[in-house]
Amino acid sequence: MTTLAETSTVDTTPRHGFDSLDEETRVQGLPVTGELPRWLQGSLIRTGPAKWDLGSRTMNHWFDGLAMLHRFSFADGEVSYASRFLETKAYRAVQETGDIAYSEFATDPCRSLYQRVTSMFSPNLTDNPNVNLGRLGERFIAMTETPIPVQFDPDTLASAGVAYDVPGELTTAHPHMDRATQGMLNYAAKLGPRSSYRFFLLRPDATKPEAIASKRVRRPAYMHSFGLTERWLVLAEFPYVVNPPSLALSGRPYIENYRWRPELGTRFHLFDRATGESIGPFETDPRFGFHFVNAYEDGDEVVADICTFPDAGIVQDLYMERLRAGKPVAAAALERFRIAPGSGDVTIERLIDESLELPRINYGRCNERPYRYTWGVGIDGGWLDKIVKADVIERTATTWREDGCYPGEPVFVAAPNADAEDEGVLLSIVLDARKGNSFLLVLDAASLDELARAEVPHHIPFGFHGQFAH
Ligand code: CO
Repeated sequence: MTTLAETSTVDTTPRHGFDSLDEETRVQGLPVTGELPRWLQGSLIRTGPAKWDLGSRTMNHWFDGLAMLHRFSFADGEVSYASRFLETKAYRAVQETGDIAYSEFATDPCRSLYQRVTSMFSPNLTDNPNVNLGRLGERFIAMTETPIPVQFDPDTLASAGVAYDVPGELTTAHPHMDRATQGMLNYAAKLGPRSSYRFFLLRPDATKPEAIASKRVRRPAYMHSFGLTERWLVLAEFPYVVNPPSLALSGRPYIENYRWRPELGTRFHLFDRATGESIGPFETDPRFGFHFVNAYEDGDEVVADICTFPDAGIVQDLYMERLRAGKPVAAAALERFRIAPGSGDVTIERLIDESLELPRINYGRCNERPYRYTWGVGIDGGWLDKIVKADVIERTATTWREDGCYPGEPVFVAAPNADAEDEGVLLSIVLDARKGNSFLLVLDAASLDELARAEVPHHIPFGFHGQFAH
């Protein structure tokens, strides 16, 4: 894995992907190699952490960095690029004081004992939306797991305040589209002496959530995403759980209050979208995961495909000190959970040998429904270093990789009037460690053949998720 780096003066490791990026950039007409499809018109907008080093100290975890938006716009065979930090209260506090003022995923502000006690009652939640973004009606919204989604202007990338109310203390940055209303379905956790899992709907123009379902829970599990079928909201409780009072009392950063309790197993809950009633839990072996790939009904059974890890060690793998030292991270498996509510049985089956994380599907066509393809990133050498296309029917995988290159989440964009599920392109931001900068890679989504790449003048720190806006 390190042979190339050892025998060459060029650093081909992914290390630069964790360097802070301070500059905001605007470039008209990036140099393009290859040919972009003429039909590709619109913008890929992504969010991600871009700044971990604050002068006085460094944030602890990859998930902590200050959010920056990156936009690649396609028009008439040309690509332009713009980036801008989201001017949230978390960002402004860093600009003004050189230090963080709000609690991030694994980094807390320095506080005196007195401040810690008073902050129990106002926990200073961050509004640093570095995980994902989405479109709700005409609004563009950047999100993290705290209940402060941030609206932004897709043209200027300027932030425009809090987008909507979340009915709880935690949420996910992976809402689902509700086909009936074109609104957004999302999860929230209400934490306190009486905690509950909740689901809510936000209609396209609304700022107030409508309650869909709720269920009491004593030890809430860490929740990064959930599944949706035509009938059910699918919640996977991995046994990485928190005792809510300890969140307020421990004085430790948010994620350090969660405990791995494998004896609890993985427990699925199904919430009826029409009535809000829930069934379950349906229990199986312990797993950990961030991302549902897709879910659907197969007769009376529910199928949920999820990128899984054997345990929650992946959270530890992603601390900055480890990543910057080049320590390897765990690889995710694409697993299928088949839930039979009648018998209560849950089976687990690995779908492909390749690892796969940051999964995407042909969402508009296939979410909630049986599907065939997913695209993600996989690991050969300790960090995400290839794009993987999985055929979940044939149980096969194809890959794209290039030495010294580290691709991010591949976003699928369907071709206009496409017949096949995989007819379209994949857009992925790739760090080229050989040159020390990043490029936007455009692949044929069916064959993974390269169509084009557009070079950015600097590196783009490794991020998480983004969306294509037509
Ligand atoms: Co995610």
